[in-house]
Amino acid sequence: MRNKVLVVGSMNYDIILKAKRLPEEGETMPVSGCTFAAGGKGANQAVQAAKLGLETYFVGCVGTDPMGDFLYNTAAEYGLHTEYIHRTSAPTGLGLVHALEDGSVHASIVRGANFEITREDIDAVEPLMDETGIVILQMEIPLEINRYVIDKAKAHGCKVLLNAAPAEPFEKEYLAKCDILVVNEVEAAFYADRTAGSLSEGCAMADEMAAELHNTVVITMGSEGAAVSDGNRHEEIPSMKVNAVETTGAGDSFIGGITYAVMNGMDIMEACRFATRCSAITVTRPGAQNSMPVLSEVL
Ligand code: RIB
Repeated sequence: MRNKVLVVGSMNYDIILKAKRLPEEGETMPVSGCTFAAGGKGANQAVQAAKLGLETYFVGCVGTDPMGDFLYNTAAEYGLHTEYIHRTSAPTGLGLVHALEDGSVHASIVRGANFEITREDIDAVEPLMDETGIVILQMEIPLEINRYVIDKAKAHGCKVLLNAAPAEPFEKEYLAKCDILVVNEVEAAFYADRTAGSLSEGCAMADEMAAELHNTVVITMGSEGAAVSDGNRHEEIPSMKVNAVETTGAGDSFIGGITYAVMNGMDIMEACRFATRCSAITVTRPGAQNSMPVLSEVL
């Protein structure tokens, strides 16, 4: 039975600054608040999957510093299987997030220990792949590790969902091996070399990418919604109108939601509608992992 989810990805100690705007060059600007939180796209997506009730295993790497302790303990508190998280002497990964009042998020990351994930870490978890439905990846760990995971996951018959974020050059051959590719509008522009200004333009772009890669492409477009194409049909999935207080981790919540839905037999369009409900709840509360909904709230 393939009832497990495996996430190989980043864990970051997030410093989230609440501000009206970004500082200008040469300006020192007071902000209205600051939160310290567990983050990293990998950990965020894994936590959303676990909060929805999926048995979720996480492979990652944190430092032996207090930030690493915090991330490790938080992951365990959210119910992730943490035995494949390795500790290293490199500093724990860091996220510096400007969460602006208009709902936009501007993030910088320090890779740190996230770049110490090894092939041995993947070999250790390989026996689980025969019981795994979906393997989730992002681009905050070495791409060489992503390639290694994709090849192993496909050999074991798992579906692979790649959140190609942050966007980086990645061989088409590997993008095509992934069953579901999720990008936001900025990342989509990087891969498609043009921008999509509306959901319908997003659908056209998703169609082209899906036709080229022979997989399913989801382009998330913030408060607009998401454009989805499986190569044969596409759908515009409008976002839900909610009172957003902070959007950090909204995309990660969406991915955890897609994973839950696909694991429970929904097709990709229905899965994206379910995921939209997850991220709509996430943005109504501050923080990323702590604001993500449990299943009963989404239903
Ligand atoms: O997607 C949000 C995440 O991106 C933050 O938690 C930050 O750590 C970066 O990885």
